[in-house]
Amino acid sequence: MSKQYFFQAGTFPDLSYAELVAMFNTYHLNTDSIHKYSEEILLIKGKDIPENILIKIFNRMGGFVRFGQIIDNLDTFLDEFVLKEKITFGVSVLGNADKGDLRYIKKLSNEIKRGLREHGISSRFLIPSKGTVQLNAAQIINNDVLKKGFELLILKNGKEELYAKSLSIQDLEGYVERDMDRPYSDIKMGVLPPKLARMMINYASVDKGIVWDPFCGSGTVLMESAVLGYDFLGSDIDDDALKYSQENILWLNEKGYMGNIVYDIFKFDVKNPDKEIVKKLKNTSISAVVCEPFMGPPQKRTLSQEYAQQLLKEVKDLYLSLFETLDERIGVRGINMVLVIPSYKTDKGWETIGIREIASKRWELLNSKYSPNRDLKWSRKNSIITRNIFILHRT
Ligand SMILES: C[S@@+](CC[C@H](N)C(=O)[O-])C[C@H]1O[C@@H](n2cnc3c(N)ncnc32)[C@H](O)[C@@H]1O
Repeated sequence: MSKQYFFQAGTFPDLSYAELVAMFNTYHLNTDSIHKYSEEILLIKGKDIPENILIKIFNRMGGFVRFGQIIDNLDTFLDEFVLKEKITFGVSVLGNADKGDLRYIKKLSNEIKRGLREHGISSRFLIPSKGTVQLNAAQIINNDVLKKGFELLILKNGKEELYAKSLSIQDLEGYVERDMDRPYSDIKMGVLPPKLARMMINYASVDKGIVWDPFCGSGTVLMESAVLGYDFLGSDIDDDALKYSQENILWLNEKGYMGNIVYDIFKFDVKNPDKEIVKKLKNTSISAVVCEPFMGPPQKRTLSQEYAQQLLKEVKDLYLSLFETLDERIGVRGINMVLVIPSYKTDKGWETIGIREIASKRWELLNSKYSPNRDLKWSRKNSIITRNIFILHRT
């Protein structure tokens, strides 16, 4: 029987699902092998998908927290550890957890410890922190659990249970470091969360080539592109933004996140494009444009409808100019574009702009291929602003 694997999605399962589909496309894998076990867990049942490719895909993605293998036989599971002298392990429940799970985790951990002792193996187990039934990434990484032992998982979907073991955990510390420790982050201007920037780059499904963010701000898209190994271009109208991006990229390089990347960061106003720069861009093989132009200032309260419409008009003007530059001046063909359009909660309901108000029919909308039943939305609970993500292909 071929091996089965699972991916555990992060906070936005619909966005994660679309990211996995995009990655399967990028690596020319058959998406029919992706099966929804629950909102949070996707199973991979395809034959002939090498484990190392799946691990590579997992490590590239922003939307998944765990990757692992389904265990067919729990009785023989411990056999692979009998040659070790000392083991650190943990048990977690993913999916529809219920009240008794923590008790069950403790009982099972004690049974495993006893079983290991019978084989002369000393072991130590970790218990999920209070109020949870899953080990967190820090527990797993700091205790080197996946090397020194294992994390046994019980996957629940309300109907059945599967056993699995973790093979890789999201590099949470890396994301947090790039988000919090980089030299510049301009909250006023709005900053994309690095995991979302990563997902957006992955939606563009490009094998290799140049990613361009024409509204680069402090450079979140640029940084995640660089970490993924893409060459990139970053441009912005604002001198401070350009300085922030430059400094952040230098920092990224010093921290060892960047391989041999070719990049350029330059001033460019999409509403008033410089002819010389357009000429250069014409001769550059851009593979993808990934951007978020403007979300307005952070909002705490519901907006007035007039104010939301005013913000959206600015977004629309910027996008219309960008598409005009891409279509008429640079004349791009065959590229993918991933962009954000905001929705605002107003006193008279939600306000947004439609994708067809800014992108002509020459840009094919790919969202339904990646997310068959739902829109791609990124929004925190009770948030007043939602990010709507669109994936386009210029035919
Ligand atoms: C929301 S910020 C982008 C933030 C960025 N995604 C990040 O995570 O740091 C939008 C950026 O668009 C830039 N911008 C606004 N109008 C522009 C224009 N006409 N041409 C180019 N950039 C512009 C702003 O200066 C700002 O840095």
